[in-house]
Amino acid sequence: MLRIAIVGARQKRQGTGPWIANAFKKAGCHVVAVLGTQPETANQAKDELHRRFGIDCEAYVSLSQLIAEQEVDVLAICSPARFHREHLQAALEANLHVFCEKPLWYDPPMLKDSSGLEAEVKTLCEGFLERNRLLELNTQWPCTLGYFWALYPELKGIPTQSLKMRLSPVSQGPIMVVDSAPHILSLLQALLGVGTVHAVSMEPLPVTEKSEGDAEDRSLKFIYRHGGGESDVELILRRCLEQPRPAWYSINGRKIRREVTLPAYTIEFVSETGRVKAEDPLLLRVFEFVQAIQSQQVTNCDAIVSDMVALAKLARAVQDTA
Ligand SMILES: NC(=O)c1ccc[n+]([C@@H]2O[C@H](COP(=O)([O-])OP(=O)(O)OC[C@H]3O[C@@H](n4cnc5c(N)ncnc54)[C@H](OP(=O)(O)O)[C@@H]3O)[C@@H](O)[C@H]2O)c1
Repeated sequence: MLRIAIVGARQKRQGTGPWIANAFKKAGCHVVAVLGTQPETANQAKDELHRRFGIDCEAYVSLSQLIAEQEVDVLAICSPARFHREHLQAALEANLHVFCEKPLWYDPPMLKDSSGLEAEVKTLCEGFLERNRLLELNTQWPCTLGYFWALYPELKGIPTQSLKMRLSPVSQGPIMVVDSAPHILSLLQALLGVGTVHAVSMEPLPVTEKSEGDAEDRSLKFIYRHGGGESDVELILRRCLEQPRPAWYSINGRKIRREVTLPAYTIEFVSETGRVKAEDPLLLRVFEFVQAIQSQQVTNCDAIVSDMVALAKLARAVQDTA
């Protein structure tokens, strides 16, 4: 049974820690500890995990103390992106597998100069690879592709010439891209393999009649160059503060829309002609990660490095045109 520690097990803004903890439990793992910033909030996270999901664990405010006192196999990093780098480094030094919320990390200098970024991410990934530890990101949208093929079986096996996705971040400006682009990049990697982004452009989107979104809304277009050629990509970012937040994507012009029913958070994917009930993709992603450890999959350095380089390029382009 894998033993999991969750860094950031409360939802303060958009954090996913409580659901990731529950998903690891459902995957047959043992959540042994949580890390928070203050004794009160860390204990609050621990109590909430117990009350909502029946998880019994210890609460910490020091990662080094957590690692020293608990036997842990996996660190699930669900803290804000600006802290991921230090948590990744601590996990590497402690020989832990890591399930890291997207993006791998973010800090504002990435938007100005990412020349050292590629080498830094490569060194980190190779560290995990050398120690036979798995490092993966939590980007759950590729887990929805099965529903896309169920609704459009005729498209399976046909090369993806275009991918368009609409997401509804709560953030604005370049951070909106840092929050959202990892999802479309992960879909591109799943559909087309590792690639690079080119010809990035960004346009403001008009506020619609339904007064959806705001003046910061953007359409981000780029070309994804991969082993099979080039594909056209568009990421539509319309800010939305209320749950359930609209999301959809289309492959080669055929679209599926996510429909979430609250409060149960049941999910369906809907096309022009049909609908399918879906498992929570976050749960599927955690199951996939646990299976990957069990089957001794290794860290895919190329995928993680190209993902971060592409993300920095997209965020920088948005910053430059802001
Ligand atoms: N995959 C997805 O669809 C998805 C969706 C939303 C967010 N995310 C990702 O989830 C991550 C967190 O989101 P967020 O920034 O909105 O989180 P958040 O809700 O602001 O914070 C989550 C938790 O992180 C803890 N935390 C903050 N700083 C910490 C530190 N230095 N060490 C340990 N714990 C710390 C906080 O603990 P305390 O409560 O103890 O202060 C808090 O409970 C981001 O990487 C974001 O991109 C992913």
